Amino acid sequence: MYREKIDVVFDDGDSILQRMLEQQRHDASRAETLPPEAYNSDSFFRLEEDKVFRQDWLFVGHESQIANLNDFFTLDVVGEPLLILRNDAGIAVFSNVCLHRWAPIAHGSGNSRSFICPFHNWTYNTHGKLSGAPSMNQAQDFDRQQCSLPKIRHEVVFGMIFVTFNADAQPLAPRLAPLTERFQRYHVADLVTAYTLDYDCPYNWKMAIETFMECYHHAAVHRTTLEDSFPGRLSSIIDEGPGWTICHQPLRKNGELSEILTAGLEPFSGLSDEQMRFSELLLLFPNCLISLNPDRLSISAILPVSPHATRWHRVVLVSQASAAREDFPQTAATMKQGSLAIIDEDQWINAEQQRGSRSRLARPGRLSHLETTVWHLANYLKIRMAE
Ligand code: FES
Ligand SMILES: [Fe+2]
Repeated sequence: MYREKIDVVFDDGDSILQRMLEQQRHDASRAETLPPEAYNSDSFFRLEEDKVFRQDWLFVGHESQIANLNDFFTLDVVGEPLLILRNDAGIAVFSNVCLHRWAPIAHGSGNSRSFICPFHNWTYNTHGKLSGAPSMNQAQDFDRQQCSLPKIRHEVVFGMIFVTFNADAQPLAPRLAPLTERFQRYHVADLVTAYTLDYDCPYNWKMAIETFMECYHHAAVHRTTLEDSFPGRLSSIIDEGPGWTICHQPLRKNGELSEILTAGLEPFSGLSDEQMRFSELLLLFPNCLISLNPDRLSISAILPVSPHATRWHRVVLVSQASAAREDFPQTAATMKQGSLAIIDEDQWINAEQQRGSRSRLARPGRLSHLETTVWHLANYLKIRMAE
């Protein structure tokens, strides 16, 4: 049945939110997607920024990306350029915006004892203090000693660095405490960065998360890659907590261990035979995606840019034993090629999904039991955005 969408004002965030809050969130067997406008509306996107991304804890990276003194990396999080570094007091997160005329000070990643703004050479130390400001001696009442980059609240949980812009946010560690056994099993705090991947996604941030979190699409999108070893129909949604949801992704029956393990990596120590035969996909609401595998992890920060643009910051982690192997550079290069092939498949379908979601004839779609994680994300948003 076709019905023109004449009853909907397309870019009214409040009306989209209202319809979303009217959707039931108690019976998974009746689950449906959010309204497609929630993936396209500018005003709804601003509501998400204000009610979710500026309130909750956001993953930005793993400690091992800045393992050494003065290591740093940069990231834009809901329009805030951030500088994440290790100084002699530990990890710190600063606004990466110059106090003079707002140019971002640091770029990319690296190791540096100071940061010189590329616009007029104002210089900052690794504690965010302004240490140099040329030709400012005639500026009355300007005391550079008093000038510091704003500090952003952060918390490190099992080596994962999270930030929040909300001074009143409850500490994150207690919320994630029920996942302790799992994070310990995969040694998350002790892993090292094999490589990072940063790329632009031409689709809504929720599409990035939803697709990562369900294996229902394997049989179509990844039929010549993932589906053989990890048939989507065998996956299941195993756990949901106040801050996360998990999809269990088993290796096919009678599958060889070589299908789940990466040649050249050492499997994590202490895994049972059964634990060697599955991967798990975790979403820590709202923006942290984790893939747990018997010999490697990926942890991603999904960073909304606009309703139809998202930045993906992905960190791939392995054990110190794996990273110490002589053939590791080759192994990491092969792993990277493998991930890029899968990423390409998802990039294509998600861009297509975005295109379809703009249709005035698009409606909320029903969900399979294999995509209950999609519904879990929607329910998290309903709760956060109703506040
Ligand atoms: S904007 Fe940074 S020195 Fe001028
Ligand atoms: Fe995929």
